[in-house]
Amino acid sequence: MLKVIGGLAFLYAGVVSAGPSGERLAYLVGCINCHHQTPKEIINAPPLAIVQAYSLPEFKKLMKVGVTRVGRDMLAQSSIMGIVAKEQFSHFTDEEVAAVYNYLRTGWTAERAAKEETKIPSLYKAEPEKK
Ligand code: HEC
Repeated sequence: MLKVIGGLAFLYAGVVSAGPSGERLAYLVGCINCHHQTPKEIINAPPLAIVQAYSLPEFKKLMKVGVTRVGRDMLAQSSIMGIVAKEQFSHFTDEEVAAVYNYLRTGWTAERAAKEETKIPSLYKAEPEKK
């Protein structure tokens, strides 16, 4: 009996320590969409490789208040990145911020970015509807 309980506790610890998936969150909240799946004329977002230049505390500040690592306040500038930081990403837990950060620094590759960008022509093939 004790052995069974011990086994369950071990399983549970395994599930808990896995934590949130940074990859799933990055796709879910739209980092990939705005930064790599949208034509630059529509949303001019830099490649997510830019996160390589951020420390975790800097990235946390970016997510919570929309201020870049060099101190530019994107919300004050009415930049969409500042707005989504304040209105969406500020709801991330610290654990979720760390998961997104780790994914973008270790799992996000130039090949992956290029692959997402190849989708743009098929996603934006139609002429905008004339009213
Ligand atoms: C609604 C579109 C949109 C979404 C969603 C979005 N971004 Fe951005 N992001 C932008 C745009 C546009 C810029 C450039 C803004 C500027 O320079 O004022 C930007 C800039 C940035 C920068 C560069 C800041 C700097 O140092 O200049 C980083 C890093 C960044 N975004 C990370 C992320 C991450 C991580 C996510 C997901 C959690 C995300 N973005 C989601 C549009 C978006």
